[in-house]
Amino acid sequence: MKKILFAASECVPFVKTGGLADVVGSLPQYFDKEQYDVRVVIPKYLCIPDKYRSQMEYVNHFYMYFNGRNRYVGVLKLEYAGITYYFVDNEEYYSGPTPYSDHFYDLEKFSFFSKAVLSILPSLDFHPDIIHCHDWHTGLIPVYLKNEFAADPFYPSIKAIMTIHNLRFQGTWNIEDIKHMTGLPDYLFTPDKLEAYKDANFLKGGIVYADYVTTVSETYVEEIKTPFFGEKLDKLLWARSNCFCGILNGIDYREYDPANDDKIYQKFDTKNFRKEKVKNKIALQSELGLEVSAKTMLIGIVSRMTDQKGFDLIERVMEEMLCSDSIQFAVLGTGDWHYEEMFRRFAAHFPGKISANICYSEQLSHRIYAGSDAFLMPSLFEPCGLSQLMALRYGTLPIVRETGGLKDTVEPYNEFANTGTGFSFANYNAHEMMASVRYAEQVYYDGKRRWNQMVERAMKKDFSWETSAKKYETLYDSL
Ligand code: ADP
Ligand code: GLC
Repeated sequence: MKKILFAASECVPFVKTGGLADVVGSLPQYFDKEQYDVRVVIPKYLCIPDKYRSQMEYVNHFYMYFNGRNRYVGVLKLEYAGITYYFVDNEEYYSGPTPYSDHFYDLEKFSFFSKAVLSILPSLDFHPDIIHCHDWHTGLIPVYLKNEFAADPFYPSIKAIMTIHNLRFQGTWNIEDIKHMTGLPDYLFTPDKLEAYKDANFLKGGIVYADYVTTVSETYVEEIKTPFFGEKLDKLLWARSNCFCGILNGIDYREYDPANDDKIYQKFDTKNFRKEKVKNKIALQSELGLEVSAKTMLIGIVSRMTDQKGFDLIERVMEEMLCSDSIQFAVLGTGDWHYEEMFRRFAAHFPGKISANICYSEQLSHRIYAGSDAFLMPSLFEPCGLSQLMALRYGTLPIVRETGGLKDTVEPYNEFANTGTGFSFANYNAHEMMASVRYAEQVYYDGKRRWNQMVERAMKKDFSWETSAKKYETLYDSL
């Protein structure tokens, strides 16, 4: 039995701010249970719902030297959906209302977590063969593992994988403060190790010290080896090319299943969607205060509101798009104040045509995936993207920019061959995006048969975890 420990900052159903939590929460369930014992460790945040916190079992506690003094490390455990989850407890660090807070404090919280993950291992009945680290929050795990912990005979057999979910976030700060905080030795803070552009860089440390590096789509692998997408680490990623690959994310097909989803108004499947899916649209329009009209094309957006997601393009042409009566928008998201205000403004100017829901809601997200006709995701960059996979699963055709995982998962409509599962455009240009929206509208209104055939193809696409979990198994075996 191979033993794998996932370490991450978020994981469904306990705590989620984006796709990272979906991946860490669902992928472990899809490994061959006879051969792989995959467990997960995250911090024990106070914002984890009480229904989970009250079920956690105490495992152990001890004190660990970190940032100038001995600090409490508690370990708790919970079996959920057949997976063992561990939680690192320290109320000083993890009692905020959200998992992330001020950047410097986050660096301290997650370096503590990284060192604690390694320190708790001897007290668990689980000696992992591989620690699979996710994003910059856990970038120091491979660094501690191959340096400070290497002298202890318990650790050298453990391999580390670093998965990059988003290269933009690297966890950087000035070297002196990080050295003092983490207790890592001087020799690590050089440009061939943790230093990048005169700062200490957690993700870089993880990339340098991991035995293998992965990211979440094949196109993103190639993109981040170029200066435009490489966030100043492109040369390092080139240098690691022989131990670096892309494995596409999947989604949990049990959680996102239009035929069996209690969060939506009307269940449907590939056979009856022509009659049933529209009931979701009508109910959604009425819930959100949009003009109720079965015929009007409804475009959904569910997203963190950051510049990554292409909102600058939407800002540029939204008024032009809304001048005709042929489309409506249902928007759900939170994030940068600027984009939140932008959607509130559009909603005020175009009542009945656009509904701006500036909040986080699992239920509404499912209702938008199910009730919309198309899903707009014009990202500037997108390591993988899960929202477009959810949209496809609910027969809601994605309109995307051809970047990262969007390019790998949405096949553009080809009217000559009658193939494809959505619409796409290449350049980061507002009018190019609008042309794709207009093209989608034209197919929706003038070629309804074709549109429905595309919906059926989209729903039948398989982006469940099965294929990708097999690729991770092969990678684990090779290490
Ligand atoms: P990212 O991780 O970059 O935010 P992904 O497409 O990989 O993008 O994943 C986003 C996930 O977060 C999806 O599960 C999406 O449904 C969810 N999500 C984003 N914003 C919200 C929101 N406001 N309410 C509910 N779910 C949201
Ligand atoms: C990141 C990326 C997103 C990806 C997700 C899960 O948040 O922005 O593209 O799908 O991680 O890997």
